[in-house]
Amino acid sequence: MEEMAPAAVRDHSLVYAPRIQDLLAREEKVFRIDPTTVGVSDCRLLAEIVAARPVLSTERSVYKPAAGADIPHDSATRTIRALGQDVMAGIRTPPPPARGLSGAWPYAPTSYLRRWLFSADPLPVSLLSKRGITRSDTLSRIVDRAVTVWPGSEAEGRSTALAELIRGASDPLERRQAIAMYRRATATLCDGVAALAGNALWLLRQQRAPEQAPERASERAEERPADLTAALWETLRLLPPAWMLWRSGGEAYTELHPEIRPEDEVALFPLLMHRHPDYWSDPLEFRPERWAGVADPERTPAFMPFGFDGARCWAKHLVVPLAERLLTVAFDHGLVIRTPRQDAPVPLRSLLSVRFEAAAGA
Ligand code: HEM
Repeated sequence: MEEMAPAAVRDHSLVYAPRIQDLLAREEKVFRIDPTTVGVSDCRLLAEIVAARPVLSTERSVYKPAAGADIPHDSATRTIRALGQDVMAGIRTPPPPARGLSGAWPYAPTSYLRRWLFSADPLPVSLLSKRGITRSDTLSRIVDRAVTVWPGSEAEGRSTALAELIRGASDPLERRQAIAMYRRATATLCDGVAALAGNALWLLRQQRAPEQAPERASERAEERPADLTAALWETLRLLPPAWMLWRSGGEAYTELHPEIRPEDEVALFPLLMHRHPDYWSDPLEFRPERWAGVADPERTPAFMPFGFDGARCWAKHLVVPLAERLLTVAFDHGLVIRTPRQDAPVPLRSLLSVRFEAAAGA
């Protein structure tokens, strides 16, 4: 069930889930959420916590253990290189028909990205990333087994570099892990980029002059901003898809802050840090111009949409260019946000994403 807040709790016409809203109301930068969880949005403490110890294999998302074993470092790097090749190749190929962007966001662009980047893979590999399959554990297991037996062949023509890693696996464990990597990498990429693009679209629309909204805006295509890259960085500040990071076990952090006890879990909140008035001027304003001329946004203090040194995102260089390309297709094809005109929900999910309905031309 998605938790939603009463309509009174808003910014940028967003209605946050009550638990997110509770967090947004916190003024302290280190606070207790419940008897065993401490929340942190202090810039320095956050960096110290991330640096205090390497991320545990069980805390990882893409590279958590698969097929009963940790993912070896060289296979992790092969995966990220393959994903990079596939994204760059995808960005250069013509996108699928833009009507695929019509429907419920962020689900429509998630499926659209999967089709764009990974549908060339032969069956059954391409089924690994299909939404109807990934939502069912039983279907996922059946497809996993089918891919293990039949990972495709060179004779079938073009396939992605990620699919090649499945086919080229040297033993059954490596193949099973490559299958898990394919599924997780494609899901993390498509879900994350769709969330980011949707959040940007919503914030850009709210930024319009009052006389353009809401009546006429609902019938007019969304307009491409002059500096789309800056709009995406500002979206990563105000509505970061990776809004909360988790560290289990407080032992490594007790010396860093008196509130943290050995038995505590620690929740790190880029979402709160990115809007704290101690770190940002007009923190709740969506102002893409903050990023104009900033060569490396990630060197900005109190900004960590892709993590800090120590556990920084391996795919960060792919996310913004792909989101930019996706939004360009949307703008070029007259995407219109249809509903809601006001007050879009932001449910409690591991990825922060605004929900709305949109329609695009062909
Ligand atoms: C919009 C998309 C994405 C966002 C916003 C994002 C954000 C982040 C953040 C905030 C961290 C730090 C996590 C922590 O310290 O706990 C992180 C780490 C990481 N991300 Fe991403 N990420 C995205 C997509 C991806 C994709 C597509 C991949 C790879 C397939 C990936 C691979 C990693 C890896 C390997 C780490 C380092 C943590 C570890 O060693 O497991 N990310 N990401």
